[in-house]
Formats: sequence, structure tokens, C-alpha cells
Amino acid sequence: MKRTLSSKISGKAGETVTMAGWVHARRDHGKLIFFDLRDCDGLTQIVILPKENEAYAVGEKLRPEFVVQIEGMVNKRPDNMINKKIPSGAVELLAEKITILNEAKTPPFEIDKDTLGINEELRLKYRYLDLRSERMRTNLVQRAKTVNYIRDFYSKNDFVEIETPTLTKGTPEGAREYIVPSRLYPGEFFVLPQSPQQFKQLLMVAGLERYFQIVKCFRDEDQRGDRQPEFTQLDIEMSFADESEIRKLLENCLIGLIKEFYPEKTITKTPFPVITYDEVMKKYSTDKPDLREDKSNPNELAFCWIVDFPLFEKSETEKKLVSSHHPFTAPKEEDMDLLDSSPEKVKAQAYDLALNGFEIAGGSVRIHKKDLQNKIFQILGIGDKEISLRFGHMLEAFEYGAPPHGGIAGGLDRLMAILQNEPNIREVMAFPKTGDARDPMMGAPSEVDKKALKEVHIETKK
Ligand code: AMO
Repeated sequence: MKRTLSSKISGKAGETVTMAGWVHARRDHGKLIFFDLRDCDGLTQIVILPKENEAYAVGEKLRPEFVVQIEGMVNKRPDNMINKKIPSGAVELLAEKITILNEAKTPPFEIDKDTLGINEELRLKYRYLDLRSERMRTNLVQRAKTVNYIRDFYSKNDFVEIETPTLTKGTPEGAREYIVPSRLYPGEFFVLPQSPQQFKQLLMVAGLERYFQIVKCFRDEDQRGDRQPEFTQLDIEMSFADESEIRKLLENCLIGLIKEFYPEKTITKTPFPVITYDEVMKKYSTDKPDLREDKSNPNELAFCWIVDFPLFEKSETEKKLVSSHHPFTAPKEEDMDLLDSSPEKVKAQAYDLALNGFEIAGGSVRIHKKDLQNKIFQILGIGDKEISLRFGHMLEAFEYGAPPHGGIAGGLDRLMAILQNEPNIREVMAFPKTGDARDPMMGAPSEVDKKALKEVHIETKK
């Protein structure tokens, strides 16, 4: 269909065009029918004059969310009628022919207004309607622009975008994992990755040197406003790079991105301040401080790097050491001697990026030697048999000339929520799960039929 979009209409005064979209808000003024037509690019005011008999008759039947095609003449509005709030506001379309392409039931909530205050279960059940609202649409469009910017930035810096598997084996990032039964191997399971951590390190062993990926990660953990069971990381790994090079690249990427797409925002301090873990805990009692001068100002962005994390922390439940970041993180060179005597005092070559009170990225320089990696697994209390079963492939890879390497992963959803001034990450995701990890629109999770279960060798107990 040759059609003119709302964003292009203002330059076409005097021309006859075809538009298509949804009836947004309808207003009747005496004998004239007015409504806003909504398309993927915005709104255009449509006017139906009574003399347009046929169009007028169709116009009288129109209700919100009907899908229509309209032919008409673009008319310049008088100066005092210009609507500065919409890009097409200097013109309107005088409808000559209207075709109803599809009718619509009355939506369960109003979508020509902000939907933030509407019951979220309802919004998620009818997400395709919720996403018609302007704020939600803008969030998705800005997210796409951000992803494109990041892709472009890392590609220009010689990073190669590489996809890694989703059906894989567990990788330790501290959360419970989603498991997928294997049909061909009874009693065996794939695990959905909590992150591509091991694959990206193996890509460094493979000599790719600079990898990035915009990737879905899966973690079966308790939900919060800034946590979802599946979320998106900007995942990065580099060979022959030290901590500051890895950090600097992400920092420059974010500064450029904000300058281009969020000119109304100011970054409190550049270069981003770097604070040690000990210092941040002492001063703010959190490792993700909100360093804004005005904590209520969403247009202030206070980034800060937290460095020198402890390599291990005490697990509250099991009274043993666990990795603060993940077990592939390298200890600080100067603390190597403490590994045997006081492992809890060893600092890691690990860093987080905090923004306005949220952790938006985390990474580390990795271990690239087999003996050291083995030692860390042992300090973590992982037995030889389990090491070989879970991580044998990593240890083996390190024997084939693994280069020094490190990386970082940013939480794209968290970044977008902050940039779009949203209260939680669900607002910047097209189809998020509810707070209790369900999808009310698809009805997931759901039972599967007995035959499918049998094929994957699963029996369920109520
Ligand atoms: P980490 O576990 O710190 O590191 O994750 C990196 C970033 O991902 C975001 N994030 C989440 N966002 C939404 N929902 C969640 N459930 C969730 N969990 C994490 C956060 C976090 O900073 N493989 C390492 C990275 C590395 O070492 O390179 C990793 O995944 O913003």
C-alpha cells in the first residue's frame, strides 16, 4: 500500500494522499467529525466534512481502535489551530474516502492515555494493546535505537558480534537455572545460560580477541523491579586488555549514546568516578550508590565504577566461600600470596558500573591459566570430580594457549529503564513476565500434554 505516514504529512499540504492506521481519539464538533489517526509514526488529525457524503457515513460508524484507510487532501491548518504537540500539527487530512480495514472491540483500558496507572496484570494480558500507547511505543523505539548505537560503537571498535548457544550447560552466576529436558538423552537436560560467560571466554581462546553480543540471559531468581527471569545483556569480552581498557570502552559508548539520544540528560561527572569497594561500603553502605547531586532529578546521570571487590564472600546459608562475581574472575596480582592463607582477604580484578543507585554492568579480568582456575574451584569447595564434570572443558581449553582476557556485561533493561525515566524494567521490555514470573498473555508457564512429557522422559507429581 502506498501510504503517507504521520511524520511525513506536514510537507504535503495541497496533495492528495492515502493514510492508514488506527482511530485514536474521536471528537465530534457540531456537524464536523474529527479524529486522530494513529500510525507507527504518530498522530494526524482527520476531518470529515458533511459534504463528503460517503466518507461521512463511514465516519459516523468509526470507534476507537478501528483500523482504517483514508484518502484525502492535506490541508494547512490556520495559524491559530496549529497543534504544536504533534509533528503533523500544522496540517490535517480532509477525508474523501474512508475504508474500514478492521473493526475493534472496546479495549479493556484506555490506550490514548498513559497506561502506567492501569492494573499491570491487565496490561500484560493485553500487552499488544498496552504497547499501542505512546509511552510504551517510545520506550521500545528508544531501546532499538540504543541497541543500534551500541552495535555500531563496538563494531567500529573492531568487535565481532557472535551468537552463542541457548541450549547449553549450567554456568555459575549465582542464580538458579532454567532446565530443558533432552528427548534424545533420557534423564539428561540442557540448561538455559545465565550469561554467555564460558562461551565468550572460549571465543578468546579461539583467537577472536574482541567479541560482543546483545544476548538474552535466563535466571530463575526471585523477581524485583530490576530483575526478570529473562533479560538482555550487552556482553563483551576482549583479549590482551586490562581492567581500565575494558571499562573505558563501555564508558565512552555510554557517554556517546547519551549525548546522541538523551541530550536533555547531564552526566554528573566524566570520566566516571572510580571508587573501591571498601570505600563505597564505608561511605554509602551499598555497592550501588546513588551519587546524584539531586536524587529526585531523573535527568541527572551519576555513573560510578566500583573496583577492587573481594574475590570471595561467605555464603550465608552454607558457611563456605562463594565467588563475589563468578569463579572465572582473576585475583589481584598483588594478593596472589593470600589465596592459601586468607582467601577472604583477596581482592578481585572485578568491577561494577553503578548508575543512580542501580548496578547496570559488571565484569572482570579472567583467569586464563589452568592451575589458578583449578585452585579457585578448590577454594570454593568444588570437588575434583565435579570440577572435571562441570568445568573440564574450560580447564582443558586453558591448556591450548589461552590469552589473557577480560570483559563486562551491561544490563540493557536496567539502563533503558533509567534512561526512559521508568520505575521498573518491565516498562522497557516488550513482553516481560509478571512479578511472580508468569506471562498472562501467553498463559505461560503452562502444562504440556502427557505425550510431549513422555517423549522427554518426564513425569510430573502434583
Ligand atoms: P552479572 O551477573 O553481574 O555478570 O550481570 C551483568 C548485568 O546484567 C544485569 N542483570 C539483570 N538484569 C535484569 N534482570 C536480571 N535478573 C539480571 N541479572 C543481572 C545487571 C548486571 O550488572 N557474565 C557476567 C559478566 C562478565 O563477567 O563479563 C555477568 O553475567 O545490570
